[in-house]
Parts: sequence; structure tokens; C-alpha cells
Amino acid sequence: MADLLKVDKIKTIFKTEKGDVTSVEEVSFDLKEGETLCIVGESGCGKSVTSLSIMRLLSKNGRVSGGSILYGGRDLTKLSEAEMRRIRGNEISMIFQEPMTSLNPVLTIGDQMTEGIRLHMKYDTKKERRTMRLKCLRKWAFRVRKAFFTSIRMHSRAG
Ligand SMILES: Nc1ncnc2c1ncn2[C@@H]1O[C@H](COP(=O)(O)OP(=O)(O)O)[C@@H](O)[C@H]1O
Ligand SMILES: [Mg+2]
Repeated sequence: MADLLKVDKIKTIFKTEKGDVTSVEEVSFDLKEGETLCIVGESGCGKSVTSLSIMRLLSKNGRVSGGSILYGGRDLTKLSEAEMRRIRGNEISMIFQEPMTSLNPVLTIGDQMTEGIRLHMKYDTKKERRTMRLKCLRKWAFRVRKAFFTSIRMHSRAG
């Protein structure tokens, strides 16, 4: 089967006060459809920066300065931000490590779940989007009450 994702010798650098720092140096791997790939390594070795490079979610001082990220035959490093937005959260997503800092504390869980559906799927009404949201959760065997979507924010249970 053809590669779905082909990361080839990517290099990611960050501009710092002390000059450019290379965080990821010539990392390469392939991923075929249906395959699961785990990247392991000691803390600070570049796992997160590699993933953020693929998603084009690096902080402002970071950039992929070399190599290619072929996805469906297209090099993600060459796409415009608008093209990347169509792929991100739709075809390629990331589950961030720390829910307490990666979820927005002022939005409900429901709003955050619906954002991707609203941006990428062609549903006209809120009701359709909510139905889809529930369907997604049930597909993965989550059982939730309605209040989960409407009243729970990340810090609403904090003392
Ligand atoms: N915004 C940044 N500016 C400068 N260096 C960074 C930045 N983000 C990550 N780094 C550095 O990149 C390296 C790889 O980090 P990271 O990918 O987070 O490691 P991990 O493998 O634990 O996920 C680390 O040395 C880290 O300090
Ligand atoms: Mg990490």
C-alpha cells in the first residue's frame, strides 16, 4: 500500500535570543493507511516538535527549515495557511497531552467539540452539528449526558 504520510529528513529550528536552535534534525518516517506508528524517546528529544511541525502548529519562532512532509502526495511544508487549515482538524488531528492547558477554559466542552464539525462538515444547523457530535462520541463508546456539553468547562470542577 502507498504511504499516507512520508516525513523525509525534516529539520525544525527555533529562533531564540541566543540564535537559532535545531530541535528536530533529519527525522524521517513513513506511515501507511491503517497503520499505527508510535514515536518514543526521552523527554526533550523532539517528539512533540516533530508532531507540531507536521500540523504546522509551531510557535511563531519555530519553522521547518528543511526536508519534506508528503501527505497524499502533497508537501505540507509548501501549502498555504488556508490549504493547511482545510487539512488540520479534518484529515490530520492532534490530541494534546495536557487537557488542563490545551482545552480553552472559557469554552464548554460542547463548543470545543463542535468547532471541528462546524469548520469542516457541511451542516447548516446547530441541531445537525449537535447530533453529529453525539454520534462521534457514541461511535467511540462514550456515554455522556447533555449537561456534559453545555455546562462543563475544564475548570468548572476546580475547588
Ligand atoms: N518554542 C520553542 N522554542 C525553543 N525551543 C523549543 C521550543 N519548543 C520546544 N523546544 C525545544 O525542542 C526540543 C524538543 O522538545 P519536544 O519536542 O517538546 O520534546 P519531547 O520529545 O519531550 O516532546 C527541546 O529541547 C525543547 O526545549
Ligand atoms: Mg512532548
